[in-house]
Amino acid sequence: MTDKENIKKTGGSDLMDKVVSLCKRRGFIFPGSEIYGGLQNSWDYGPLGAELKKNIKDEWWNRFVRQRSDMVGLDAALIMNPKVWEASGHLATFNDPLVECKKCHARYRADQTPGLAYSVEKLSTGIETKHLAVAQGTKCASCGEIWFLGKTLESPKQFNLMLKTFLGPAQEQANTVYFRPEIAQAMFVNFKNVLDTSRKRLPFGIASQGSAFRNEITPGNFIFRTREFDLMEFEYFINPKDWEKTFEYWLTEMKRWLHDLGVTSEHLHFVEVSKEDRAHYSQRTVDVEYDYPFGQKELYGLAYRGDFDLKSHAEKSGADLTYTDPEDQKNKFIPHVIEPSFGLNRSILVALLEAYDEEKIAGDEEDVRVVMRFPKWVAPVKVAILPLSKKDELAVIAKPLYAHLSKLFVCDYDETQSIGKRYRRQDEIGTPYCVTVDFETIADKSVTVRDRDTMKQERVLIAELDRYLSGKLTS
Ligand code: GAP
Repeated sequence: MTDKENIKKTGGSDLMDKVVSLCKRRGFIFPGSEIYGGLQNSWDYGPLGAELKKNIKDEWWNRFVRQRSDMVGLDAALIMNPKVWEASGHLATFNDPLVECKKCHARYRADQTPGLAYSVEKLSTGIETKHLAVAQGTKCASCGEIWFLGKTLESPKQFNLMLKTFLGPAQEQANTVYFRPEIAQAMFVNFKNVLDTSRKRLPFGIASQGSAFRNEITPGNFIFRTREFDLMEFEYFINPKDWEKTFEYWLTEMKRWLHDLGVTSEHLHFVEVSKEDRAHYSQRTVDVEYDYPFGQKELYGLAYRGDFDLKSHAEKSGADLTYTDPEDQKNKFIPHVIEPSFGLNRSILVALLEAYDEEKIAGDEEDVRVVMRFPKWVAPVKVAILPLSKKDELAVIAKPLYAHLSKLFVCDYDETQSIGKRYRRQDEIGTPYCVTVDFETIADKSVTVRDRDTMKQERVLIAELDRYLSGKLTS
């Protein structure tokens, strides 16, 4: 770059603060229930955030479901029969270790708090013993009390993350149900329904998108960890002999997806999860971790769930969840499963962090251009129509042009303030193309198209604009 200097600050809270502030200022993401003082760690997606979220969901669905003959979709209920969660092991084991400061009653994750060393020892008998060590001088982050285990700090307790509610008017034990903590179980419970109706043969997958709920002890870091969040995942059913190659295949596909989402490979880490740290159902897990401004943490996960879930549901429900090999009818078995899991909100967070850019334009002391360099398919608005002035002679061209282009792409129409300011407003929300209607348009039937990244401008005939923009936006 010769005339522009990139001054994006990477890492640290600086980038995070800038992204959170831009999200609020420009209508990507607002604090939830804000006029009532908010609700801890809840977030609402505004006009631009809703488009961004939809783009990511739709692209994922098109790529992994519609464009594949080995995948089908499922859109299931949020609340399931509680027996599902007994069979899946969530009621017994979906716990986090919780400690409480005895002075101020602030609660923390024993396994994630600086100064605390938490470990679980698994004996050969299957019995687990838990240990907590507190480093000397460790203080409560909330009240400053120095912690001594058993005196000023409670011993760890297992806290179940399932969010409970009641179905029907009587709030009694018999009516207790749970908001789903993961979307996977509906795909296992419907395995037979899907198999019988879609006539798919192994290997095939069932995909789903939707909300999950977890009563997290320490939510935070903007949309990174919330109690209500969205997942996109699939259960890919296989013959167990194929598990290793299928696992590698999906790891590669997840990398491809992240590349297309605009995530730099240097910011990603693929971490093999040890046996002790894996979820109860998993025989192999790779955590896809990302360098967030607040540290290296999980973005996605890929797990080999074996036959844990189908077997457990078959035992608990009595349903036959076996698969019969079409070639060898005598060969009946419970399929095994590879599960690529994509957190939607974390996808949005990394798309925002990766896209944020600032550059200083040479010769202009004050002028810093903030530009969201989203991949074009991710950008919430694709084209902005900007008449040079509000005069009727331009509006009679610009308004019908907007009406026409809106049928093809998500468009914005902006006629207030100087053209320079309007370009900057569009850069800040990542709009790839601005179309300016000026006084020459009346005579030459052409408009100026400005590219977000290069800032180069090109004169294009209105009659050719559809084709021009379609070509650019799909390249
Ligand atoms: N079915 C497997 C499963 O649910 P998980 O690792 O517990 O696995 C999957 O969750 C993904 O969901 C994570 O990789 C992450 O992207 C996202 N996720 C988990 N907890 C979250 C939370 N509290 N807030 C936002 N996203 C979360």
